[in-house]
Amino acid sequence: MSANKRIVVLISGNGSNLQAIIDACANQQLPGEVVGVLSNKADVYGLTRAANSNIASTVLSHKDFATREDYDAQLINAIDAYKPDLVVLAGFMRILTADFVQHFQGRLLNIHPSLLPKYQGLNTHQRAIDAGDSEHGVSVHFVTEELDGGPVILQAKVPVFAEDKADDLAARVHEQEHRIYPLVVKWFCEDRLTMSDECAMLDNQKLSINGYAND
Ligand code: GAR
Repeated sequence: MSANKRIVVLISGNGSNLQAIIDACANQQLPGEVVGVLSNKADVYGLTRAANSNIASTVLSHKDFATREDYDAQLINAIDAYKPDLVVLAGFMRILTADFVQHFQGRLLNIHPSLLPKYQGLNTHQRAIDAGDSEHGVSVHFVTEELDGGPVILQAKVPVFAEDKADDLAARVHEQEHRIYPLVVKWFCEDRLTMSDECAMLDNQKLSINGYAND
């Protein structure tokens, strides 16, 4: 069996998805290891999670850079220092430059809390409630230059109940996030998941527009 894949996770906050991936690696549910965590904010709980698991971390504040291009160039260097096979965005709340995306193309994953292509951008839970949707969910996708627009790999759906507030819905979605993100990372680490011509491929089969689980 080939060596564990080297995973770098980018965060901006709590890091519960980071934790789910750390746990999946520790429990040998996937052939990978989180070798580094990068945050654009100091004092976030995700960094404590990394320290608790003896994982190296780097804080690179966007406030220290004049332009998005300057920041992303340094971010590329900081990530490359960990020699990653896979870069995982897990609540990393930054818009990325084309240069950044191209540098990691095909090995850059994101999780977005909506059933893409619905609700790209922010406040997805409130927007689903305001629209009167009966179902909502989460998508894991390859990152391309289009914000929240890269090919979907896997989605999970949750019901929306009449009395739901955004926080209730977020909690329900989070539970699913922690299931599907480690699974997608596992597929990648097993060399089953690739991106080709901006399509997600699992076991050399093109995935549908909604990813693997399509109803
Ligand atoms: C998650 O809900 C993730 O889907 C979302 O940020 C949260 C991070 O939670 N990502 C985005 O909104 C990206 N556009 P976590 O820090 O507990 O993993």
